[in-house]
Amino acid sequence: MPFDHNDHYHRLLLRQLPPGCRTALDVGCGTGRFARRLAARGIDVHAVDPSAEALDRARAATAGTPGGPPVRYQQADAARLQLPPGHYDFISCLASLHHMPFETVSTLRASLAPGGVLAVLGCYPERTTADYAWSLAAVPANAAARLAVGAAEALRPSGAADPVRAPTAPPTVPLSRIRRQAAELLPGCRIRRLLFWRYLLVFRRPDD
Ligand SMILES: C[S@@+](CC[C@H](N)C(=O)[O-])C[C@H]1O[C@@H](n2cnc3c(N)ncnc32)[C@H](O)[C@@H]1O
Repeated sequence: MPFDHNDHYHRLLLRQLPPGCRTALDVGCGTGRFARRLAARGIDVHAVDPSAEALDRARAATAGTPGGPPVRYQQADAARLQLPPGHYDFISCLASLHHMPFETVSTLRASLAPGGVLAVLGCYPERTTADYAWSLAAVPANAAARLAVGAAEALRPSGAADPVRAPTAPPTVPLSRIRRQAAELLPGCRIRRLLFWRYLLVFRRPDD
């Protein structure tokens, strides 16, 4: 598998889990790699994605993963999903929010349990000088990471699977607008830019 920018940030996302987390929703789960990492921690995971092909791959991989409760996969458009209010301790969106109206975060917020955390690993387009400067810094790090992953694969071939067909599109909403919308819909959230063309948004629902 080549260097994957989303997988690279799994550990950072796992550090956002609230203490005692028991239930999680992974939005746009793709082939379920992050959902399985959550389940491996004993968390009850509900994972949604509109791609039947991605979910087939996810279910097959999950069946072969020992330990942890099973992940509940659901084929759905997260923007139209009816979610239980105040339910999830943790909601993650990895490189998927830009496929939905940003306002979907309001539904996700309503579905967080008191003290629950919404963590978005988001994508944004390059628009400003700052965006291009970050990209310039990312290019050599990306090349080095690809080389390192390629070398590891050559030593230990893992039989990379074919890519799945899933509804993906490049991001179009600039980071400045994401910051404004997030401040309005998720008051108190934190957003920080990450090296590999991503941002991290973390919102914690206050305790009741
Ligand atoms: C770039 S992939 C990321 C997949 C996975 N989160 C990962 O980190 O590997 C984006 C995913 O978002 C999913 N997606 C697209 N539109 C969606 C929607 N309306 N609701 C939920 N997921 C969606 C796609 O099917 C795809 O699996």
